[in-house]
Amino acid sequence: MAITEAAYQKCINPDCGAEFDCGQAMFKCPNCGELLDARYNWDKIAVPGKLSEFGKRWASRDKRLDLSGVWRFRELLNFCPDEHKVTIGEGQTILQQNDAVAEYVDMKPGRLFLQYEGLNPSGSFKDNGMSAAFSHAMMVGAKSCACASTGNTSASVALYAHSCGLKCTVFVGSGRIAFGKLSQAMDYGAQTIQIRGDFDDCMRQVQDVCTKLGLYLLNSLNPFRLEGQKTIMYRIIEQLGWELPDWIIVPGGNLGNSSAFGKAFGELKELGLIKRIPRMAIINATGADTLTDLVNNKNLVWNDSKVEQKIIDDYYADLTARNFSPHTCASAIEISRPVNLKKCLRAIDICDGIVRAVSDEEICDAKAIIGKWGLGCEPASAATIAGLKHLRTEGIVGADERVACVLTGHLLKDPNVTVNYHKDKLGEFSNPPIEAPNDLDAIIKLIR
Ligand code: F0G
Repeated sequence: MAITEAAYQKCINPDCGAEFDCGQAMFKCPNCGELLDARYNWDKIAVPGKLSEFGKRWASRDKRLDLSGVWRFRELLNFCPDEHKVTIGEGQTILQQNDAVAEYVDMKPGRLFLQYEGLNPSGSFKDNGMSAAFSHAMMVGAKSCACASTGNTSASVALYAHSCGLKCTVFVGSGRIAFGKLSQAMDYGAQTIQIRGDFDDCMRQVQDVCTKLGLYLLNSLNPFRLEGQKTIMYRIIEQLGWELPDWIIVPGGNLGNSSAFGKAFGELKELGLIKRIPRMAIINATGADTLTDLVNNKNLVWNDSKVEQKIIDDYYADLTARNFSPHTCASAIEISRPVNLKKCLRAIDICDGIVRAVSDEEICDAKAIIGKWGLGCEPASAATIAGLKHLRTEGIVGADERVACVLTGHLLKDPNVTVNYHKDKLGEFSNPPIEAPNDLDAIIKLIR
């Protein structure tokens, strides 16, 4: 097993702080049960002196690692020797300036950008994380893997698993995931287990299954997944001509992305590659708003890594006592016990972050606007624009600040929500199909 000296794993609990080499597959600290980080000995890594130097790799896209939108930035996630690195062409995503959507949220032209992660091979941002986590899986010689999912993780895991020759089992909540995603998991050959329960139930089960059977876990508890997801931020900076946005807006579910983005900016600052850190807004759906409630109403904070565990324990005990199960049309973020909560609090601390929740109606209207003027996205992704609309009304984001919204998943992931919105005229921007007789004159009269 080849292990690089440049990287190690470290428990985020300050009272523990245990360190492990990267040759071990763990999804929690074996000493105290807290989350683990991938950490680097930067003095052992030849990190370029300027971010723009990564851009030179566009000239050598015939090399598979330079083609990958993840591994193009490999010095910034240097935990794995090149021979184990896995890529299927992830990260070829675009940052679209969108003035029409900007107008919807009352922003000035030229200031709003949409980062289309739906353009990844499996249609969501997950592929960034999977190329990194599967590289680690190959490095430690894993043969079988598993994940719990609201849909996109399972699709991405299934795709990478068969590309790497790993056996794969995915756990989804019965009736809780969008059809596009379920079809991918089955078509890519994963064993798909539908648990009678929600995502949080699946998440609990998969950890026990992985521990008992020694399967490699690919949820965002896996620290190496988050390393891959850091590159979404590098690509936004790259596409802004190596300049920083003022705001990053991201949907919040299991809180892997927000955690990864905060870590990315913290490291870039530490390395002297950026001078300031953009602010981050994390957007929940109101039917799954644990983070919003904990941060905005219960004053939960990172507090220099001394998070008040009792606030979280009490909150979850109350959810259990009420038999609470989250509900939102944005099924991707229908999560009430986000596993990366503490890392997300750290990201909020690093990025002077804020948290908001938006209703399903706001999400669906924002989704229709993104579809009408952009490349389309799934409901969870549209929470970003719905959230930005709140932040503009509140005056927290200025009309001429530069904002990048991460559109996490492709429009076709969840056809039902889209079809119902338009066909059943559920919102202001519904665009229903028009019934016409099979008659030329009648048809011509209908064309607008
Ligand atoms: N957007 C989409 C499209 C997602 O699929 C997810 C999460 C999120 C946002 C939330 O991201 O967890 O990093 O806060 N989907 C996971 C899954 C949970 O199983 O596919 P997060």
